Amino acid sequence: KRTAILISGRGSNMTALIAAAANPDFPAEIVGVISDRSDAAGIGLAIARGIPAQVIPRADHASKEAHDAAIDAALAGLGTELVALAGYMRLLTTPFVEKWQGRMINIHPALLPAFKGLDTHRRALETGMRIHGCTVHFVTPAMDEGPIIAQAAVPVLLGDSEDALAARVLKAEHHIYPMALKLVAEGKARMAEGRTVFTGLAE
Ligand code: GRF
Repeated sequence: KRTAILISGRGSNMTALIAAAANPDFPAEIVGVISDRSDAAGIGLAIARGIPAQVIPRADHASKEAHDAAIDAALAGLGTELVALAGYMRLLTTPFVEKWQGRMINIHPALLPAFKGLDTHRRALETGMRIHGCTVHFVTPAMDEGPIIAQAAVPVLLGDSEDALAARVLKAEHHIYPMALKLVAEGKARMAEGRTVFTGLAE
């Protein structure tokens, strides 16, 4: 499946997806990277791996809708079948999300439905969580609410800093995001009636 990745920054999850997809047996091919920020470190990382990257800044467009329409046109230009959000830091408009629903996935650095939104590691520490983790889910119009495809849990260690916890979760992210993309690209995880339906997996 022809897969495009949307980023805004560092691009470590993007890099994990590109690395997994470099295997010819992987069912998704990364056809391009789109960033809303020209200073995203991920752009250089993508280009270094031979993946075309383009910047589509919000400031070049009059409205959120026009920005998302430009992204949609770029996705069409790439022949995109699946979209993976990897640290894309903007809320996408409902028409865009509805158009891609079931074909667009996101990684969130918490065990949803806990800790939607930002600062998940700080909030997990403040709450006194003893486990934390990450979630890959289908994207629906409500932020961080789409059906879950994969999760990984990590321990919260005594004396953890936000950075130490973030690094432990990030490792897990790099593990489950390619796995989840594989399931979606193979059609083994799909969205139906607001749920994730799994097929062809031995439990
Ligand atoms: C990750 O923690 C991801 O879960 C969140 O934003 C961060 C992006 O990091 N959505 P990177 O750009 O993939 O390194």
